[in-house]
Amino acid sequence: MTLDSTESTITKAVQNTFAGMSDERTREIFVGLVQHLHDFTREMRLTGDEWFTAMDFLERVGHFSTPTRQEFVLLSDILGLSVLVDQINHHNETSVTDSTLLGPFYVEGRPTAANGSDISGGVAGLPLFFHGTVVDTTGNPVAGAHVDTWHSDGDGFYDVQQAQKLHNKLAMRALLTTDEHGRFWYRSIAPRYYPVPTDGPCGEILRAAGRSPMRPEHIHFWFHADGYDPLITMLFRAGDPYLETDAVFGAKRSLVVEFVQHEAGETTPDGTTMTEPFQTVEWTFTLTGKDQ
Ligand code: BEZ
Ligand code: FE
Repeated sequence: MTLDSTESTITKAVQNTFAGMSDERTREIFVGLVQHLHDFTREMRLTGDEWFTAMDFLERVGHFSTPTRQEFVLLSDILGLSVLVDQINHHNETSVTDSTLLGPFYVEGRPTAANGSDISGGVAGLPLFFHGTVVDTTGNPVAGAHVDTWHSDGDGFYDVQQAQKLHNKLAMRALLTTDEHGRFWYRSIAPRYYPVPTDGPCGEILRAAGRSPMRPEHIHFWFHADGYDPLITMLFRAGDPYLETDAVFGAKRSLVVEFVQHEAGETTPDGTTMTEPFQTVEWTFTLTGKDQ
C-alpha cells in the first residue's frame, strides 16, 4: 500500500512495489538499494536543498557523458565503487596476476596489431618496448590469448582525448595475440601520469575535497583466452610519485614494475640500435582457469 506513507513506512511501501519483478536478482538489488538509500537519507536528515543539489549534480553528470567521456564511470571511480566491485569479484590469489579497474579509455574499435609492431600510431614520445608473457597457474604458456593494451602519451593524454589533433585516429592501443610461447611484444611510446578529467562535475568533488586528481603512470591490459577468466589489469611504473595517492584507488604494489631507462645506442630487445634513449618493460601475467 502506498497511501499515507510515513518516514517509517515508506521504505517497505517502495520495496513491495518490486515484488512482481520477474528477475529475482534485479529485485534483490532494487530492494537493497531502496533500503540503503532510505536509511542513508534518514541518517543524514537530508534537507530539500541538499536533495536538489544531488539531483542537479547527477543530471549534470549525465549531460557531461558521451561515448568517449563516461562521467558516471568516473564518478564510480573517484568514489572507490569501481575498485570495490573488482575487489568483491576477484579475490586475487597470490598465484594469479591482480586485477584492477578498466577505466574510461578502453575503446572497442581498437586496431589489431602483429607482435613486434609499433602501436604508437605515429604519436611522438620516448620509445618504449613492451615484452609480455602470459602463463597459467602452473607456469605453462597460454598461446593464442587476446591482449588488449592501451595507454596515454608522454603528456598523459589518451588518443580519444585529442581526437581532433589525431584526426579521430586511434593510437597507443592495440589488440595483440600471444604466440606459441605465450609471448606478446610491441613498440610504443612511454606513457605519463595524468589527472583524471576534472573539467566536469566529478572535478568539482575533487576540488571541494582538496583531493589530488592524479593517476600514477600505467599501461592497461585486458586478457581474453579460451578456458581462462578474463583479466583486466594495469602495470604501474616503479618510482612514480602518485603511486600512493591514485585518485581512483586502482594502484597495487603487485602491479608495480620497472620501466627500465636505456641510453641511445644500446640494442633494443628486437635487435635494433636506437639513436635516442628508450624504455623497456617486461612482465609475466598469470591467468586462472574458469573452473579453478
Ligand atoms: C584510466 O586509468 O584510464 C582511468 C581510470 C579511472 C579514471 C580515469 C582514468
Ligand atoms: Fe589509464
